[in-house]
This record gives sequence, structure tokens and C-alpha cells, in this order.
Amino acid sequence: EKGGYDYFMLKEIAEQPKAVADTLLGRIDASGSLTLDEVRIPPRVLREIDKVVVVACGTAFHAGLIAKYAIEHWTRIPCEVELASEFRYRDPILDSRSLVIAISQSGETMDTLMALRHAREQGSRVLAICNTNGSTIPRESDAVLYTHAGPEVAVASTKAFLTQLVACYLVALYLGQVRGTKWADEIRTVVRELAKISGDVERVLETMEPVRELARTLADKKTVLFLGRHVGYPVALEGALKLKELAYMHAEGFAAGELKHGPIALIDEDLPVVVVVPSPRGRSVLHDKIVSNIQEIRARGARTIVIAEEGDEAVVPYADHLIRIPATPTLLQPLVATVPLQVFACELATARGNEVDQPRNLAKSVTVE
Ligand code: M6R
Repeated sequence: EKGGYDYFMLKEIAEQPKAVADTLLGRIDASGSLTLDEVRIPPRVLREIDKVVVVACGTAFHAGLIAKYAIEHWTRIPCEVELASEFRYRDPILDSRSLVIAISQSGETMDTLMALRHAREQGSRVLAICNTNGSTIPRESDAVLYTHAGPEVAVASTKAFLTQLVACYLVALYLGQVRGTKWADEIRTVVRELAKISGDVERVLETMEPVRELARTLADKKTVLFLGRHVGYPVALEGALKLKELAYMHAEGFAAGELKHGPIALIDEDLPVVVVVPSPRGRSVLHDKIVSNIQEIRARGARTIVIAEEGDEAVVPYADHLIRIPATPTLLQPLVATVPLQVFACELATARGNEVDQPRNLAKSVTVE
């Protein structure tokens, strides 16, 4: 049942182009507009939403962090993202005009379930983004948008994450469409790009051999740092989480702009630092700033592992290792930038002799608070 792969995780990483395509299937029509019939919250209600709150745990929380960029950009509705385990304990401000989005692969995560119950008690609408049909979280929500990743067996989430991102983009774009924002043209363009993004994920997968080779050379390292900016920041957090779970290595993700506010003190000779570089097109200010970060890190003797868009030449002089990803619209970059980090963590785990599908101390679904 591992389909010829050594681990479920490898199979699930390889299934990502299909998982992404399946999650989009039937949701974008030929004219480039979205139909999310399953989201049975009337457009009238969606037009009145004045706040979105995303609750989730672990990898699903990282999808939520990325959702915030998309939702705020395309809808101009303020969006908060909160760890489900923290949410209800701070007595969050919610009412009937708040839309709470609960993201969960399993649909059984107790922290997320308790957060959504709390939200419903305050009269908020809850939309679940979930991969498991008929599980508790979608059953208790007002509406559900299913991800179609298929069963995810490996404890470390991979294909579910990519499909959660797709679902978050769909919700953000749909809210934008329903409410009619000034971004209507951009939304149409992004919907078209999204429709073909699974081909980009496929292309990334085809170029992963050097990433595996690199990972094997780092098996004796104690720490790996991950840096990103904008949507690349949650990608850095996800890269670090994968490495902790699978390789049992100390790993941390930082917003690159924070480097000078503290973490730069950690940088020393030969420390591997993975940097997710934003596109040089579009938000080029961020691109230039991150290139200076890479220079600073390199100047301190660390080993730079740079994930950058094809054609981005500015990073070349400062990258000890360069991992190329296809150019995508800014907000969609996590769909391609996360894949090398999954492969990297999986290979490091293997090189360290760890059990890839069943990391120590972890369960696939966490049904206690
Ligand atoms: O089933 P869920 O999406 O609610 O699970 C949330 C987290 O427990 C999960 O993402 C966990 O962090 C994974 N092991 C990450 O790889």
C-alpha cells in the first residue's frame, strides 16, 4: 500500500500534485470564477462578516498563518490566526459577524474542536477546512470545505498541508468575489494561476535529488535555522516543524526581518540556514532585504541554503546551495516552496536512522486537549 515507496511520507509527498488538483476540481469554472456550493453560508452573511479568525494546530496552524495574508489582501477583512489551544482561554472577542475558520486534517483534533465550540457559543459562524469526511470538526461546523488529499497516513503532514493552503486560497478568493473588492482583476488572474499550480508542484518534485544529497551531508548537525518573509515566514516555520518531528533536530523558523533583533546572535560557522526568498517581481523590496540577510548570514560563516525562484540571479553569489522553485504569484509561493523542505526533513530523518512515518512521541491525531 506504500505504492513502491519506502515510506508513506514519500508516497504522500509525491501525491501532492494530484491532491492539489483534486482539491481544486469542480471549484473553478471556465470563466475563472469560484463556486463553493458546499460552503452553505449565504453570500448575504459573508458580505457582513467584519472579522475572520483562523484556529488550528501544528501544520494546519501554519496554513492558517498563510491564509491571513491571502484573506486580508483579497478581502480587506481583518484576520487573526490563533493556536487553537490558546484561543478560548483568552476570552476572544467574537460575535455573529465573525467568521471562524477551523483547519484540521483529521477533523478530530481536540484543541481545534474546543476552539470551534467556543466560537459557536459566541454566535459566530464556523467554516471547517478538513480532509476527513464526516469527522467531528466538520460535523460541528456551520459549513465545511473539504480538502481532497486522500488519506494521509504518515504522522508528519505533507499533502494535507498543501491542500489546506489551496482551500484557504479558495476561501479568500471566494470571499473577495462575493464581496466584490477592488482586487477583482487580480483575483481572476490568481484563480487562473491556481488552476495550473499542480504542474508547478510536479516540477519541483522532479528536481529534488540535490536536496536529498544535501540533507544527507547535514545528518550530524545539531541545529538548522529557517528564515522567510511575508508568506515565506510560515513556510520557514513549517520547515522547522518538519525537521523537529522527523529528524529530532533543533530547528527554528524566524521572520527574516527579526534576524537583527536577536537571532543573528545564533549564527556561527557552518550552521545551516535555510532561506525562503520572495519573488524578485512584485514585492521586490522584500526580496532585496532578504538578499542582504543572506549576505549577513554568509559573512558570519554560516552555510546558506537558498530557496529562490527560477531566474532570480541576485541570490546566486551568496547561496552555498541553491534550490530553484517555479515563479508563482506572490501569495501562492508556499505551494512550491514548502515541498523542498518536506523532502529535506524526510531525507535527514532517514539519514539519522529515524522512523519516518511514526516519529517518536507523536500521534497522527491528537484527541486530548
Ligand atoms: O489533524 P490536524 O490537522 O488537526 O492536526 C494538527 C496537528 O496535530 C498536525 O498538523 C501536526 O502538527 C502534524 N504532526 C504536523 O506534521
